[in-house]
Amino acid sequence: MSEILINGGNPLSGEITVQGAKNSVLPVLAATILCEGESVIHNCPRLSDVETSLKILRHLGLKAVKQGDTAVIDGTKISEYDIPDSLMREMRSSVVFLGAVIGRTGKAVISSPGGCELGPRPIDLHLSALSLMGVTITEEHGYLTCTAENGLYGAEINLGFPSVGATENIILAAATAKGKTVIHGAAKEPEISDLADFLNSAGARIYGCGSDTVSIYGVERLKGTEHTIIPDRIAAATYMACAAVTGGKITLNNVMPSHMVSVLWVFRESGCNVELNGKSITVTAPRRLCRVPTIRSLVYPGFPTDAGPIVVAMLSVADGTSVFVENIFENRFRFADELKRFGAKIKTEGKVAVIEGVSELSGAECKATDLRGGAALVIAALKAGGKSIIGEIQHIERGYDGITDRLSALGADIRLIEK
Ligand code: UD1
Repeated sequence: MSEILINGGNPLSGEITVQGAKNSVLPVLAATILCEGESVIHNCPRLSDVETSLKILRHLGLKAVKQGDTAVIDGTKISEYDIPDSLMREMRSSVVFLGAVIGRTGKAVISSPGGCELGPRPIDLHLSALSLMGVTITEEHGYLTCTAENGLYGAEINLGFPSVGATENIILAAATAKGKTVIHGAAKEPEISDLADFLNSAGARIYGCGSDTVSIYGVERLKGTEHTIIPDRIAAATYMACAAVTGGKITLNNVMPSHMVSVLWVFRESGCNVELNGKSITVTAPRRLCRVPTIRSLVYPGFPTDAGPIVVAMLSVADGTSVFVENIFENRFRFADELKRFGAKIKTEGKVAVIEGVSELSGAECKATDLRGGAALVIAALKAGGKSIIGEIQHIERGYDGITDRLSALGADIRLIEK
């Protein structure tokens, strides 16, 4: 298994371009299943989750190729409606393929997404919405078989919690269903609006994304289209934190500051100077970061749960004690034990992490526990004096396109050791 080697201490400086959003590209790739023609997707990040999505598309009988950051998917023909267990397991968000496959073929067989690193990740909201739209679901031997005998039809759906994945699955299933679907209590994340923009340019009629109520008027069929994925707001936050802990100054290009309001607030509170200039952000770190008394993760536009580990790592070297409250996932703090190997002082109990800032971290050997927890270790290692080795980096590669190259372009002493 490959590792990342970092000799910490270099202040980051310079400019980088932020990748396309992982959480947009995956549902958009799933959405190409609904498009009877060729779709061209630009700003596709190089990620293992993207590769897995392309494998799923090919398994279903679509033509899917990727060159550089452009993916070309031909959805003229689809020949299968199942997603093999091995691919379901590679990427937990593969559940978002369900709505698209059933929307196109009237059937879908997937394995139940397995246990997850962030605590239980049920899909009850996805399934109950699909059953309101005419889908019969049976579960046997770990497989879900979904059938829409009489086709999918529109429904009024009340989501008890604004789940991102459930909102996406409903939009995908409803795009070509008969009649109108309304989602009350929909998730409002920008990646959902990006999915709707893609589908609308393919001929769908989806209104209200970014608000609580999304209306989808089913259309007969969708055609292929061209689309550019929005910038990744969590990757942007990660690079900002790398600059913040090292006392650096960097400019990020290809970002959408309006998607990052709650995150930018935390950086400013911690003493960073954050300048916005169109699609660029320049962050300048203070001599020492200050504590941010309390940060709570919330659904969008609140503070994103995925940026939690990133700010916990950053505040571990702030002056004073900060508190992070995780309100979305039950078990998000597994990375905290790994951060302690660097000398961070973090206490976690239930959904609360208390971070007592220390002035120095020292290099450590550690292992990524999950994607964003892995990013937290990179941030700590960039700050720490001496050498750090981060293992289990396949978690990091699920979400960060060329993280070692980007950080080394900013002056970090970082290397990928391929094994
Ligand atoms: C998506 C993102 C993930 C992010 C999360 C929250 C992708 C590929 N992943 O994940 O990076 O951390 O949004 O912003 O876009 N829940 C239920 N029942 C359901 C569905 C969800 O109880 O049927 C619960 C989950 O257990 C969790 C919470 O709702 O506690 C949020 O989940 P959800 O918004 O669905 O996140 P994902 O779509 O899995």
